[in-house]
Amino acid sequence: MHKAAFWNRIAEKYASSPISDEAAYKRKLELTQARMTPETQALEFGCGTGSTALIHADHVKSYRATDFSDAMIEIARTKEPMPENLTFDVAAFDEMALDDESLDMVLGLSILHLVPDPRATIAEAFRVLRLGGHFVTSTALLGRMWPLKLIAPLGQAIGRLPHLSFFGAEDLRAMMRDAGFEIEEDWQPDAGRTLFLIAQKPV
Ligand SMILES: C[S@@+](CC[C@H](N)C(=O)[O-])C[C@H]1O[C@@H](n2cnc3c(N)ncnc32)[C@H](O)[C@@H]1O
Repeated sequence: MHKAAFWNRIAEKYASSPISDEAAYKRKLELTQARMTPETQALEFGCGTGSTALIHADHVKSYRATDFSDAMIEIARTKEPMPENLTFDVAAFDEMALDDESLDMVLGLSILHLVPDPRATIAEAFRVLRLGGHFVTSTALLGRMWPLKLIAPLGQAIGRLPHLSFFGAEDLRAMMRDAGFEIEEDWQPDAGRTLFLIAQKPV
């Protein structure tokens, strides 16, 4: 099965599902935009249908939004008005061959718990960021979700669940620090089930 098959199948439904907590979403946007300048070159991976990219693009020089699901990107490309500095690409972050220290901001929103090797993804974000650049993440904490962990292999075998990585807040903070990041914003909305972090590559 294609690795994006699950996401391709649910793309239409995902595009029409409402934001679960508007206030938390707005705060994440504000905390992120506080680190953006008109010179910022940003890349978002796992951008889904691009709603957040469209909001942020006006605040930066360039915004490249990527997702490995072509169905998600197809929907993203239909959105209007489309800022001129925003591009959508079908791509997996770890296969993009980005240059070292070529970006000011990397965003991975609701995605680190979905990648097979979160440590490698975090290391890749660190590599491609310029000194002082920011890695903005919002991550579902699945570490204590034992029932989900038990049924995940079956759900994945029949295509009803995506790949899931099970870790908690402390694990994720440690992965960020081990990669070399300094954590600037650390917030657990959604009754503690989500960890929003803004981490900086030290100058
Ligand atoms: C839960 S959605 C989040 C979408 C968007 N970031 C948001 O916050 O609404 C996860 C997205 O990540 C994409 N995705 C999952 N695993 C990925 C991977 N290994 N590489 C690139 N994209 C991935 C999926 O296709 C999906 O669009």
